Order: sequence, then C-alpha cells, then structure tokens
Amino acid sequence: MLGFARKQALVTTAVDVHDLLHGMADLIASSVGSTVGVSIEVSDGLPAILVDANQLELAILNLCINAKDAMTGGGQLKIVATKFAGSATRLPSNDQGFVSIAIIDTGIGMDAETLAKAIEPFFSTKEVGKGTGLGLSMVHGFAAQTGGAFNLTSSAGQGTTAELILPATSKQIENAGNEMESHLNAQSSLFLLVDDEPLVRMGTADMLEELGHEVLEANSGAEALTLLASRTGIKAVITDYTMPGMTGAELIQRIRESGSQVPILLVTGYAARDIDLDVPQLTKPFRLAELEQALEAL
Ligand SMILES: Nc1ncnc2c1ncn2[C@@H]1O[C@H](COP(=O)(O)OP(=O)(O)OP(=O)(O)O)[C@@H](O)[C@H]1O
Ligand SMILES: [Mg+2]
Repeated sequence: MLGFARKQALVTTAVDVHDLLHGMADLIASSVGSTVGVSIEVSDGLPAILVDANQLELAILNLCINAKDAMTGGGQLKIVATKFAGSATRLPSNDQGFVSIAIIDTGIGMDAETLAKAIEPFFSTKEVGKGTGLGLSMVHGFAAQTGGAFNLTSSAGQGTTAELILPATSKQIENAGNEMESHLNAQSSLFLLVDDEPLVRMGTADMLEELGHEVLEANSGAEALTLLASRTGIKAVITDYTMPGMTGAELIQRIRESGSQVPILLVTGYAARDIDLDVPQLTKPFRLAELEQALEAL
C-alpha cells in the first residue's frame, strides 16, 4: 500500500543486476517448484542500476510467484535483463539510461479486462485467502518511486511478460561489507529456517544473513526434518507456527521425538502468540534487533 502510494522509504544503492538475479536463483527455483523451468539471461556489460536492492528482490519474487500461479500445469519462466532500448513517454529522464528486467512466463495469460485491472490494489482473480491483490500494485509503486516504470503485456493463453524498467547509474557498486561491521564480533552460525511463505522466509533469511549467519531454508516441516537428518552443523531451528501439513508445534514434537536437542525458536503471528510450548517464542513482525536478541538467548 505504501509502495503504491509512493510513500515507502527506499534505500537506493548501485546494484549489479547479474549478481542480484543469480543470487536469487535458488530462491526463485524453490518458489516456483519443479514443474517450472527457470532461466536467467543477463546481457554482457549491463550498467549497474540505482535501486533499493531488497525491494527489487521482493518485486521480482512477487512477479515469479504470479508466473508460477499462472502455470499450474508447468511451464517456462524466463528472466531477461537487457539495456532498455525502447522509449516510454512515462519514463522520467535519466542520463545513464535504463535497464529492463523482464519476467516472462508461458502461463494462462490475461484477457484485456483482467490486464487493465491487474495492477489495481486488491484486484485478484485468486480464490479467497490465496491472493491479496497487492503484489502488482507494490511492484508498480516500487518501479515508479525508483524513477522507472512497470509494463505488463499479456493476452489470454499467450503467457505474460512483466517488465521492470529501472534507472541505470555510473555510481560504483558498493560492497555490503560495511553494514556487516557492527556484527563482526558475533559468531557466524548455521540456522535452519522453516516457513511456508516464500516472502516471509526471504525477509527473515535476509536478516539472518545481515547478522552474519548462514541459512538453510525449508518451506515445510517435512523438508525441515529431511534437512535436519542430512545436514550437520545446524546450530538452531527457527520455525514458523502456522504452516499447512505440519505446524511448527508438530515439527518441534517430531524433532524432539527424533532425539535431537537442537535449540528451536518458534515464530508466531499475533493471533497465535503465547502458545504453551517449551521453546522460546518470537512474535511477528519483529525487527533485526529483536531477532538478534532472541538468537542470543537461544
Ligand atoms: N503472470 C501472470 N499471468 C496471469 N495472470 C496474472 C499474472 N500476474 C498477475 N496476474 C493477474 O493479476 C492479478 C493481480 O496480481 P497481483 O500480484 O497484484 O495479486 P495476486 O497475485 O492475485 O495476489 P498477491 O500477489 O497479493 O498474492 C492476479 O490475481 C492475476 O489475475
Ligand atoms: Mg501476486
């Protein structure tokens, strides 16, 4: 909503598109599932772009999840980054030009009526409880606020192309190194993070990485159990409570039944707070400092 209203605080830096997209490759592949093939093509010599990297990752993930939802029977997801050659009158001027990041799917596409409404806040054709209809309005707001544009092209049965046009920059690409400095004293640990919502999982994983830790991600209790059994060195498990299939509480029980005493942090929504379980809990939404504190206590 804030993005749509252009009131979001953005932290823009010079970002390398190749590194950002390839850094997301695993996350995208696990979010779209095994029935969707994913390819990433980045033109050589592409300039850096001036954006809020976290918001751009969220926008791209939102578009990939839309693409997945449009390809229930499987398909191809292509992410293509090129120097923007077109001329869009809606674009503000930028001396360095623009970069286009297109997310192209082979899904069901949209008829003209749906396409016209798609970026409106709360417009969704998904069943109640599945879509909020805020994904594309957030992407649109982000692109506009960044000084770029967002284009959606589609027709029924022909797939969809969602294109982010973002301002290029000649600024030097900054290293994330400085941000990490305050946390350098903290020991780096490997955490297993369990959440069925890819966006939430990505947010928490980003926080953990910012704190200097390594993260293994699981999208279900079942996947978490497999990872726990097959990987060594997992310092602690951070699990969401409300998940389909196996809840956080059931996962904790299964882990304890397996004989493992690995420390577990249960992340709960407001409605499910203060669940009567013998593990520390953290209520959503939480800030970096709160997560850091909870991990120290753990
Ligand atoms: N790649 C796509 N292919 C076909 N239809 C799409 C695609 N992307 C978006 N749409 C249509 O536009 C609508 C709005 O998309 P938007 O991302 O804003 O919301 P949503 O996906 O329904 O819900 P949310 O993203 O909040 O979970 C979708 O419900 C769908 O009808
Ligand atoms: Mg969406």
